[in-house]
Amino acid sequence: MDTVKVFAPATVANVGCGYDVLGFALEGYGDELTLTRRADDQLVIKAITGASGIPLDPATNVATVSIRALLQELGVSAGFEMTIHKNISPGSGLGSSASSSAAAVFAANELLGRPFTRQQLVPFAMKGEEAASAKPHADNVTPSLLGGFTIVRSYDPLDVFAIPFPSGLQAVIIFPQVEVKTSDAKKILKKQINLSDAVTQWGNVAGLISGLFLSDFDLIGRSLQDVIIEPVRSILIPSYDEAKQLALALGALGYTISGSGPSMFALTQHASVAVAIRDQVSAFYRSRDIEVISFISSINANGTVVIP
Ligand code: HSE
Repeated sequence: MDTVKVFAPATVANVGCGYDVLGFALEGYGDELTLTRRADDQLVIKAITGASGIPLDPATNVATVSIRALLQELGVSAGFEMTIHKNISPGSGLGSSASSSAAAVFAANELLGRPFTRQQLVPFAMKGEEAASAKPHADNVTPSLLGGFTIVRSYDPLDVFAIPFPSGLQAVIIFPQVEVKTSDAKKILKKQINLSDAVTQWGNVAGLISGLFLSDFDLIGRSLQDVIIEPVRSILIPSYDEAKQLALALGALGYTISGSGPSMFALTQHASVAVAIRDQVSAFYRSRDIEVISFISSINANGTVVIP
């Protein structure tokens, strides 16, 4: 096999209380990447469609940076060329750089005969995240590669895995058309937190994980609270509090920031609630002259896959 085409899903990171450790993958929204072996040892990006302003320079593009890390670990010299079709805008809070990084390492792994498992690909894709946001966080690349809900239990040593989740769970994504750079959204965070906030936060992380394992939707809803990151970052998102109150009034289990924003997400197990949140929160933003992209997604259990 000399060429492979893959799809890597968009992702919601943090999931409220789990800053830099929790994430889940979305269905049907993500990047496509076609990778072809070259006779030489060059990494070449032939084209990027669907988004502008993304570097073609292999020294800085997240896809080539990630493949370079994989080749270095493998100790082989190989060349690839690629085209990337982006469905996720950079700066959306939906794991745009992570999708390209995950797609790149997954495709390279396929063409090299699968020397690595999906989990073993995570550190290489994290190099792409580091190139994009100066911090090698794993909470977007892990769900994009593995699918489902994922946990980064530890960064050093890296320990990542997927956990069960209830089949009826749906996410509503609200993406106001303003850009928030992850690197900026990380810079504004406080370096120290109160012990009482930490107690609240880790109680919610434990509750959320338990709710997912137990398919206990009320517990998931009670646990979708973020007392550390959301109060700081929500100022970057227009009309955040009103949008959140509207979604909660419509029956969302919870509503908070997706990754570093500006996208926000709600979770619900009811299709009618999902439709009401998508339509009414979108209409609310449009009434404020802010364009939004909004959609409903189930949780993508498959992660990155080969496509025809
Ligand atoms: N955990 C990262 C952050 C995700 O919140 O900064 C960025 O999408």
